[in-house]
Amino acid sequence: MAIRNVRLDTDEILRKKSKKVEVVDDKIRELVDDMIETMHQKDGVGLAAPQVGVLKRVVVIDLYDDKGPYVLINPEIIKEKGEQEVDEGCLSFPNKFAKVIRPAEIIVKALDRDGKEYKLKGKGLLAQAISHELDHLEGILFMDKIIPGTLEVVK
Ligand code: NI
Repeated sequence: MAIRNVRLDTDEILRKKSKKVEVVDDKIRELVDDMIETMHQKDGVGLAAPQVGVLKRVVVIDLYDDKGPYVLINPEIIKEKGEQEVDEGCLSFPNKFAKVIRPAEIIVKALDRDGKEYKLKGKGLLAQAISHELDHLEGILFMDKIIPGTLEVVK
C-alpha cells in the first residue's frame, strides 16, 4: 500500500467526470487500498478516486466506527430522503469549511472490494459522506454547495 498525492483546490481533474470501473481487478484493489491508507493518514472520513488523480468511479468512506471502511465502486443512488444542514470539509480543500445541505438519508448500491454488489443505507454523517464523495465522481465539489456566508478559511 502507498500514500497517494491528494489533488487540491483548482486542480482541473477535480472537475472531471469519472468513468465506470469495468472489472474489479487487482489494480482496482490496489487503488482502493491506497485510497484507504491515504484517507486514514489525513484523518478524512471519505476520499474519491479523482482526488488522487484517477478518474474512476471509486469511493472509500470510514467513520472510524466498527463498520468501516466502506468501499463503493460504481456507486448509484437508489434513494435520497430529507435534508440536513451540516458542517463540511474536504481533503482537497484542507483549510476550508462551510455549511451545506445534504440528504438526511441515502441508499446506494455499489460493488465492494471483491466486485460483489451490495446496498448501503446511510443516515446523518454517513449520508453526508456518501453524498459528498459521489459528487466528486461527477466533478461536483462542496464549494459549489456552500450556504452563502458560512465559508470559514482556517489559516
Ligand atoms: Ni471531498
